[in-house]
Amino acid sequence: MANARGEFSSRIGFILAAAGSAVGLGNIWGFPTQTASNGGAAFVFVYLILAFTLAYPAFMAELLIGRYGQANAVTSLQKMSKTLLQKRFAFIVGFGGIIFASLILSFYGILAGQMMSFAVEPVIRTIGFESIADWVVVGSLSRNLLFTAFFMCLTLYIIKKGVQEGIEKWSKRLMPLLIMLLICLIIYVFTLDGASLGLKAYLNPDFSRVLEPNLLISALGQAFFSLSIGTSTMVIYGSYISKKENLISLGAQVTLIDVSIAFLAGLLIIPAMYVAQHQGVAIFAADGSLIAGPSMVLTVLPALFDGMGVVGSVVAFTFFVLMTVAALTSSISMLETPVSYAVERHNFERKKASMIIGAVIFMISVIIISNIEELLGLAIVIATEYGQPIVAMLACIFVGWIWHRSEILKELQQGNAGVEHSLFWKIWPWYVKFVCPTAIAIVFIHFLNRSI
Ligand code: PFF
Repeated sequence: MANARGEFSSRIGFILAAAGSAVGLGNIWGFPTQTASNGGAAFVFVYLILAFTLAYPAFMAELLIGRYGQANAVTSLQKMSKTLLQKRFAFIVGFGGIIFASLILSFYGILAGQMMSFAVEPVIRTIGFESIADWVVVGSLSRNLLFTAFFMCLTLYIIKKGVQEGIEKWSKRLMPLLIMLLICLIIYVFTLDGASLGLKAYLNPDFSRVLEPNLLISALGQAFFSLSIGTSTMVIYGSYISKKENLISLGAQVTLIDVSIAFLAGLLIIPAMYVAQHQGVAIFAADGSLIAGPSMVLTVLPALFDGMGVVGSVVAFTFFVLMTVAALTSSISMLETPVSYAVERHNFERKKASMIIGAVIFMISVIIISNIEELLGLAIVIATEYGQPIVAMLACIFVGWIWHRSEILKELQQGNAGVEHSLFWKIWPWYVKFVCPTAIAIVFIHFLNRSI
């Protein structure tokens, strides 16, 4: 470990950990569902463009803040501030991100708990405990409480161990497993009738739809959520990167992995939806709109797996383990954000901070579970539709307007000599200064208009 606060021991360790944060339920659940509800391939096309032209630059801004500050989100931003006013602004941005990361974890833990319950269900059923298996798949209060608690304990177990022993070690194990499982399932789905129709819907864009405002805005929102932007998470992960590393290429690789896994997940889920439709499950209406809704993963896929006999149990188990793994590498990044703040700013011991913050977040999960119909949707809207866009926009404003160009360049030059001649340096500073805040403001205003 290079210093007392911890650092990723290797390049691949960082890439897998940051990609682990980015890749989660948003990629494997959110992206295919959004694709299916927003015109299939047209959405994929727009998503890919926006992920690289807007989300990647904003993602780089957060990584750069962290790598420069080598500290938690608030301290890092305050190191860039010169006046008292800027320091206060820095606190709002950094702490805002920490609050939203914690809020996201409180509902993410519930959804991930549901994934876990669907993973154990086929195992319990195969052993012969039918009534317990039935209880596990029905979304009861007690089921949600138990599995959310279980998932939070797993997250805590990893976080308590710190950067190298916890986050890096587990991301290195879990991420390759995730990719392998995904590829196996794609190969499997392509052996089934109806899959080719799904492939066509996924890869053959209707270009007349690509400029639809709703499609554009959903794609942008999805890209931000997917790259964990606006939660201070990437500031923290950036702070664990050594000054010897080339930040631009690291950031690009993580973005590429995140987008590729979303793409792979679509390659699995969209054809699987068509297979299910072929088998008589009502997924699309006659006009092509999605009947199954956002919980499609939890209703349609188990139905599909059920129709496969014994193989179906194995496929169901594999798929939901994959979802749990993806959620776990994201949840550890969310918990690391408040924990590192408590450790560095308030001198908490790491284990104690993890336990206390984990318990508080779990209490919020319990409140949400107690009135899941109303509170789950509300928490998702507050954190992802309001919180993330605002914090991401403020972080871009910080880098673009408060930080001096020469300081940005100096930070980028570490581990990347000659960056001043690169295309990145010619474009990116302008992007974060003008294009990113404007684009994020457009998304945010859209959400405001929609909610009023
Ligand atoms: N990027 C994660 C996903 O796609 O599921 C979600 C996420 C992780 C959001 C970490 C926010 C965060 F801080």
